[in-house]
Amino acid sequence: MTALSPAREIDAFNVVHDFEAALCEYAGAPYAVTTTSCTMALLLAVAWHTRNLGHEGGMISSWFERPEIEIPKRTYVSVPMSIIHAGGLPTFRDEDWRGLYKLEPLPVWDCARWFTSRMFEGYAPNDGSWVSFTQSPRMQCLSFHWSKTLGLGQGGAILHDNEEADRWLRQARFDGRLEAVSPAEQQELYGFNVLGFHCYMSPETAAQGLLRLGNLPRHNEPLPNDPYPDLSSMELFKRTTRSAVGSRANRGDMAWPSNSNQSSSRSATVTTPPT
Ligand SMILES: Cc1ncc(COP(=O)(O)O)c(C=O)c1O
Repeated sequence: MTALSPAREIDAFNVVHDFEAALCEYAGAPYAVTTTSCTMALLLAVAWHTRNLGHEGGMISSWFERPEIEIPKRTYVSVPMSIIHAGGLPTFRDEDWRGLYKLEPLPVWDCARWFTSRMFEGYAPNDGSWVSFTQSPRMQCLSFHWSKTLGLGQGGAILHDNEEADRWLRQARFDGRLEAVSPAEQQELYGFNVLGFHCYMSPETAAQGLLRLGNLPRHNEPLPNDPYPDLSSMELFKRTTRSAVGSRANRGDMAWPSNSNQSSSRSATVTTPPT
């Protein structure tokens, strides 16, 4: 019997790549980048679009520089949080959505409650017709949480059609590293150029996903919406509206926008939301 190959040859990303290829085939998408959740898929998708807005290696340093990104007021609470973490300001609209909705004005869709074949090409609204997506490039964010259609425990993915974004998203989900490259090698050979996140899918989840996807029906209806509370009425998100954080004329800074209930001397130094 031969000895096991060095760890580098047992590449844990192989099964992840196999699952991503299977997702592309099922959904009709050119590229799929898996993550630990839809929340993180949305964060990466927004971060791709905001990455050049800031200074100092991709950080948007001032609240007043942040772009507004609009979502329905009734959706899962992690979505506006991801927008904030990715450098945006969430705003809210009234929308009775089903299955998917758009993060306006970005070409990014939250598809956490919908997973069916050919979904990257278009969708069938309630009247049974077929609506093709025409906007390109575009990104669709999926959830593989246990309560969703593919049900893998935790997991997510970005379906998309942009080769340059694909390279960035893969590094961004893996702490700014290239796959199978150690942090020391990354530093020595390539440098760290992407301000990354720690949200790559585990090989176990990808293996489970491959098995389940093989048995999933081609057609799956959107899941009914949860009873989401109105996010626009939450104090936390009122503090990150354009009027609360100020405009360029009313300069902001890196501190978390002040809560009107806090004294100004305290809020000036707060960098995380007070509980
Ligand atoms: C509409 C919507 N978006 C995003 C999410 C977040 O998905 P995940 O749990 O995979 O992060 C959910 C979760 O239920 C959701 O309902």
